[in-house]
Amino acid sequence: MSEYPFVDHTYDVVVVGAGGAGLRATMGLAEAGLSTACLTKVFPTRSHTVAAQGGISAALGNMGEDDWRFHFYDTIKGSDWLGDQDAIEFMCKEAPAAILELEHYGLPFSRTAQGRIYQRPFGGMTTHYGKGIAQRTCAAADRTGHAMLHTLYQQSLKHSATFFIEYFAIDLIMENGECRGVVALDMAEGTLHRFRAHQVILATGGYGRAYFSCTSAHTCTGDGGGMVLRAGLPLSDMEFVQFHPTGIYGSGCLITEGSRGEGGYLTNSKGERFMERYAPNAKDLASRDVVSRSMTVEIREGRGVGALKDHIHLHLEHLGPEVIHKRLPGIAETARIFAGVDVTKAPIPVLPTVHYNMGGIPCNVHGQVIAPRNGDPEAVVPGLMAVGEAGCVSVHGANRLGSNSLLDLVVFGRAAAKHCADTLKTGTGHRPLPKDAGDLAVSRLDRYRNAKGSRPTAEVRLEMQRVMQNHAAVFRTGEVLREGMGRLAQTFASFSDVRISDRSLVFNTDLLETLELDNLLLQATATIHSAENRKESRGAHAREDFSDRDDASWLKHTLVWVDSSGRVRFDYRPVHLNTLTNEVEPVAPKARTY
Ligand code: FUM
Repeated sequence: MSEYPFVDHTYDVVVVGAGGAGLRATMGLAEAGLSTACLTKVFPTRSHTVAAQGGISAALGNMGEDDWRFHFYDTIKGSDWLGDQDAIEFMCKEAPAAILELEHYGLPFSRTAQGRIYQRPFGGMTTHYGKGIAQRTCAAADRTGHAMLHTLYQQSLKHSATFFIEYFAIDLIMENGECRGVVALDMAEGTLHRFRAHQVILATGGYGRAYFSCTSAHTCTGDGGGMVLRAGLPLSDMEFVQFHPTGIYGSGCLITEGSRGEGGYLTNSKGERFMERYAPNAKDLASRDVVSRSMTVEIREGRGVGALKDHIHLHLEHLGPEVIHKRLPGIAETARIFAGVDVTKAPIPVLPTVHYNMGGIPCNVHGQVIAPRNGDPEAVVPGLMAVGEAGCVSVHGANRLGSNSLLDLVVFGRAAAKHCADTLKTGTGHRPLPKDAGDLAVSRLDRYRNAKGSRPTAEVRLEMQRVMQNHAAVFRTGEVLREGMGRLAQTFASFSDVRISDRSLVFNTDLLETLELDNLLLQATATIHSAENRKESRGAHAREDFSDRDDASWLKHTLVWVDSSGRVRFDYRPVHLNTLTNEVEPVAPKARTY
């Protein structure tokens, strides 16, 4: 379109997103000598990984006995047996080396008295297959993600990766089922850019902002997932949305699980440590799905705290100022600012809050995006890869264990870079792009830029967020989900009547938020429909009308397509119940104990 001339770029690989996964991939690609561009809509060290607090898991055994096989078992059990065991083996076995690599890159981990990397307990992390509590989560105080981002950004610069900062990726360039590149808007200049690459790696994070209350940054709008759905490809396991037990009541800001790892505990209005009833062994360190459900039951049964009895207390007072200052300085500050609480003197008001999307773009352990083709449920989509929360490998299955996310980012970011290094030769020529490459992306941009409807973007977004919060929550029923599907369909339809008031192209946040909302609406639709479709309870998906896990019918991954009118279609792919090597036995599904 002549009104929007393209600036063209050609790279071996383009990474979209500069959180932990995007930066680890970018760094590895640049280190391997591949010409690499990383596009990011925020400055790299402001990516949402910066908010990760408690740490990164790895069976280093610095603070007690540990073994990657224990970690493997815990991750499968935590996933409620929906995780792919070959991918979980890969991640847990690679974990210690990934941590030592980060240490050598300069990540300033907290230390034990002996100078080793400090490790704290986290929910669901055990030794001897559930018998003991593991100290497996490596921490840089409670600012581990912050430290990781700075380390990886510095390393990427050292290897001369090229960053396109404040570039918003609009859509993939697809040709006959192959990804050839991506179209992006330079937010500061208002220019349009067409990036051609042998591989595009989506590292765009989750879509937490589909909900009203979440720990996710405002930037977490699932831009990669939206691009994939518009390309006619499926997303996987979108029904599994993790609620973190301890978001600050009101603001949703994260209070790390590391605070319970350091000895914090939850109480109800009677002052009871109620987790002892729900999870007699793990108590406050049960996995997040269990703790979030227990808190919700306490509130529903009238034992919540506060005037409205609608939240729970998290106590850290007994830890003393010294431990809090050394191990949890960030959350002390967050609690002071967002709850007005001095954590050395009073409990923090908390509530389960949307935190993480287990579902995402289906991919294999190399980061290659997969989709069914010609009878193969896991055929590789040429030219397209996904890593981090945007992807679904699936190592987290139906429920992610805390501190396995930062691990997922670095292990699979690294694996994706390695796959590209093994399969691409730098400077290999590119076929010309089709004549109309990028036109669809630009016409979508142009349509929103000139949208003169009656509904402001913020109004449509709020409506979607409220539907998701009320109808696809910690506990779900078919009836409530179907009512939500109806409401969301109306909201989706009303988006064609959106109005934006800024017609410029330079830092037009009205336009950018509208493009983001387009992505969110698609994924909210995928989530609520997938939740209605899965008639069992598993991990974070708790159906009150189907309260048991049903392995006979539902031990399978959901694949969901959503078209531009919001129409939904499902298929499935098998869970990998096999391991990668014979170094560990596969774990057969069994009833859960806490
Ligand atoms: O609670 C936390 O620090 C969050 C960690 C995670 O989601 O992995």
